[in-house]
Amino acid sequence: MKTIKLGIVGLGTVGTGVVRIIQNNQQKILATSGCQLQIKTIVVVNLAKQRHIDLEGIKLTNQIADIVADDEIQIVIEVMGTIDPAKSYIKALLDSGKNVVTAIKDLLATYGNELITHAQENHVNLLYEASVAGGIPILRTIATSFAADQITSVAGIINGTSNYILTQMSENELTYNEALQQAQELGLAETDPTNDVSGKDAGYKMAILTQFAFGVTVPLENIFVTGITQITKADILRAQKGGYVIKLIGQARPVDDKLSVSVEPMFVRKDHPLATIKNENNAVLVTGSSVGEVMFYGAGAGELPTANSVLNDVLATVKDLQLQQTGAKFNNFSRTTDLLVAQQ
Ligand code: HSE
Repeated sequence: MKTIKLGIVGLGTVGTGVVRIIQNNQQKILATSGCQLQIKTIVVVNLAKQRHIDLEGIKLTNQIADIVADDEIQIVIEVMGTIDPAKSYIKALLDSGKNVVTAIKDLLATYGNELITHAQENHVNLLYEASVAGGIPILRTIATSFAADQITSVAGIINGTSNYILTQMSENELTYNEALQQAQELGLAETDPTNDVSGKDAGYKMAILTQFAFGVTVPLENIFVTGITQITKADILRAQKGGYVIKLIGQARPVDDKLSVSVEPMFVRKDHPLATIKNENNAVLVTGSSVGEVMFYGAGAGELPTANSVLNDVLATVKDLQLQQTGAKFNNFSRTTDLLVAQQ
């Protein structure tokens, strides 16, 4: 039985979830991949912090160099911070020949192409399924299950915090501030929730979805983004009276010969599938010219759902490492998209 050694950068919500799933699901992982995953080293900011998970046999360090310089570690999960320091960490890891799995959406939305090129040059994977819609395996699904179809639209609810706030304001009569506080207590919101409520978090996710669905790189400044901070109780009541609910909707679709990408609060008819998505749940509605409408629904945030998406990328990389041993090329889903970009 082969053992694949992992490094983790960051032991917050997602990092902790990854440790738990690896420890709890060893048998399943072994059965599906033929390998055992062993977490060798975890980089944390605060070495003295009390952790409520079993870290026996795992080295804790505050030095990224401890992973970069360790030739035994083949796959690194980077779930620490935002663009800074994640970008420099990921570059160093890719340069040292490590495969990287990450969930850091602002980084991928802004520097995705640069980092993927870097990964390709180093013949390693850079995968980021968990960066969009938490537990919903949407990126790999778009890249693989729509490979022969022409996607005509992607629309969805892709920020759990704002959907939680809108649901609570509408159904439980909470004020905006009360609902936001609850979302923070539930660990849904970012450390600074500004991007959640301003629509920026959903904007980053739309940039990544647009890359996968249409093979087009759209910078955040070209995405029309409006958040939910101005939504009042009166707006919610007006929507309800007319048979609607207010939802923060991300959308990408071709209009004439251009691609329109937006995030904005919209009145959604109560009987529309997206109107039924409540609290922290996310949903992505993909329309293909052959398949028609397909909707993907699930937890958009949270420890275990997001960690599960991270582990999917880790196991896809394990498969690629096994393929590589047979001389085959990597089956890296982010490269398919990159090819499309090159053809624009
Ligand atoms: N803060 C994000 C959200 C977490 O609320 O959707 C998942 O990206």
